[in-house]
Parts: sequence; structure tokens; C-alpha cells
Amino acid sequence: MENNERRPVVLSCIQPTSIPTLGNYLGALKNWKAMSDDNDCIFAVADLHALTIHPEPAKLRQQSLEMYAILLAMGLDPEKNIMFIQSHVPAHTQLAWILNCYTQFGEASRMTQFKEKSLKHSDNVNVGLFDYPVLMAADILLYQANFVPVGADQKQHLEICRDIADRFNNLRGETFTLPEPYIGKTGAKVMSLQDPTQKMSKSDVNPKATVSILDTPDVIMKKFKSAVTDSESCVRYAEGKDGINNLMTIYSCCTGLDYDKIESEFAGKGYGDFKAAVAEAVIEELRPVRENFDKYISDKASLMSAAADGAERAGRIANRTLRKVMKKTGLVMPE
Ligand code: TRP
Repeated sequence: MENNERRPVVLSCIQPTSIPTLGNYLGALKNWKAMSDDNDCIFAVADLHALTIHPEPAKLRQQSLEMYAILLAMGLDPEKNIMFIQSHVPAHTQLAWILNCYTQFGEASRMTQFKEKSLKHSDNVNVGLFDYPVLMAADILLYQANFVPVGADQKQHLEICRDIADRFNNLRGETFTLPEPYIGKTGAKVMSLQDPTQKMSKSDVNPKATVSILDTPDVIMKKFKSAVTDSESCVRYAEGKDGINNLMTIYSCCTGLDYDKIESEFAGKGYGDFKAAVAEAVIEELRPVRENFDKYISDKASLMSAAADGAERAGRIANRTLRKVMKKTGLVMPE
């Protein structure tokens, strides 16, 4: 993919920390799929970022492969898109070092995610955690990405990426494209099924709060049936109806119907019917992912070969940018 047609370059990465939730899927991953038709897309499994929390090695390895298999199972085509595992392209860490020298300690210290994570994991505030946004900047800038689909929690990281790129361009001449955030069409923020004031989270201790994208139809149905709602018994989107609003958001993402249509579809019907309909829509949405996942994860050879091919194609683009940066910073070019 040489970008001859000059389609926008879209880049995103996902950390291989456990199986994504329905929230991750509707909020982010589904957009990846939608964007892959009209853009040159680059998608990576960010295994290096995951090292900041010291995962158990065998688990990290397994989860990285699983995440790659999930991307394939979602229907992302590894020939149309460039799909790889971050650590397979050494240019990411190489550029990250160089960008470190163009990042101010003060600006990196202002990252809210760093501040939050350091408080939460005060026993392991490593330099990698601090440097995380710089590695993320390298991920993006190596590919001269025009757009980066991000959730609200990553917007600040995209801003620091732009600041670093802009500073480098000013000091050393035009080198990097400044990436824009891409906020998905729905911008879906899926909430917990048990406490709809909280975001659906992988780490929720209540298993009924979260739907995994690999949950079986039975499990999905049960979880939606026990979703927390309210006592009004009328399907409408309104303030104070967090549970129903959340179910409406989910239903809307899966069916494409807007809130008015959903309200009229369920006029006069109770929450039981609505919950079952939402569950059915989610089951259908996730069915291909779950069915294909088993096929991809059990064929490790094909998985590794797709990842190797992705890394090779990514490496070609990344090394082009890296060489430019080496030249501009005064590093001696290798023969
Ligand atoms: N930090 C992102 C997250 O946790 C993952 C990520 C790493 C990323 N590198 C990236 C996202 C580059 C977008 C672009 O969600």
C-alpha cells in the first residue's frame, strides 16, 4: 500500500489486555471496520504499551495473538489493511527514543492518564508508564497518519503527539504529518449493565456488568435480561434513565436505528421485550466475531504468517520515516 491514491491514512492500535468488551467494540473497533473501506488503514496490537503493567509473559504472548485473531475475526482484511504486532517493527522504539529528546518532562507530567495510573498502581510507577505517550506518538508519526480514531481517554495523548510533531517540524523542518483525532459516528460510550452511571470496563468485578465480544448467545441474553433499568417501564431516551439510555445506545449501534425509531418500535411494550431485543441484536452483531475467532486462534501458523506480512509492510513505511528523522537529527546513516 504505497498511498498512490492519496487516501487518508488512518492508524490505530489496541493493547492486548484481555478480550475486548462490547463497549470497546462499539466504541472503537467497529469504527476501525467502517473506516477500512475509504482509508489506508494501519492497525496494530500495542504489545509494547502493555509491558508497562508487567503482565505475566505467557499471558501477554497469548493475549497478543488473541487480539490479532480478534481483528481478523471482526472481518478486517490483512491484505487491504496493514495489520501487525507493534514489537515486530523496531522502528517504533527507535523513533520513540528520538522523540523522547523532543518531549518536555513538564508536558509529559501533565498527562492525566499517567497521573491516574500512578496513583492507582503506586507500587509500579515505571519510566515506561511515563513515556507511554511518546511511544504512542511514534506509533502514529511513523506512518504519517492523518486520522487516529480515539476515545475520550486518549485525546490528550493525541494532543501531545501533535505538539511533539509540531516542535520537531519547527526545529528540523517538515517531517511529520500532524494527526487529527477521528471521533466515530456514534461516539458510543457503552455503560456497565449493572451500574449504568459507570463506563463498561474489562476490569469490572461483577461479571454481569460487562459483555465480552466472545460471550455465547446464552450468556449475552442472560446479562441483558438482568441489566439494571428504572421503574418507569417506558422505552424512551431521557435524563435519569441511564440504564435504558445505555440499552438504546447499544441497540442503535447494532441496528442503525435512531432513538425516535427505537421509541416507536417499543411503544407500549415493556422492558422485558426491549431487553430481549437488544440482546438479540448484540448476539447477531457479535456472532461472526465469535465464530471466526475460534478458527483464527486455532491456526497459529496462518496467524503468524499474516502478522509477519503485516510487520513487513508496516516496516517499509516506518523505516522510510525513521531514516528521514535520523538524517534530520544528525545521526550517521547506516550504509
Ligand atoms: N494507548 C492506546 C489505548 O490504550 C493504545 C495505543 C497505542 C494507540 N498506540 C496507539 C491508539 C496509537 C492510537 C494510536 O487505547
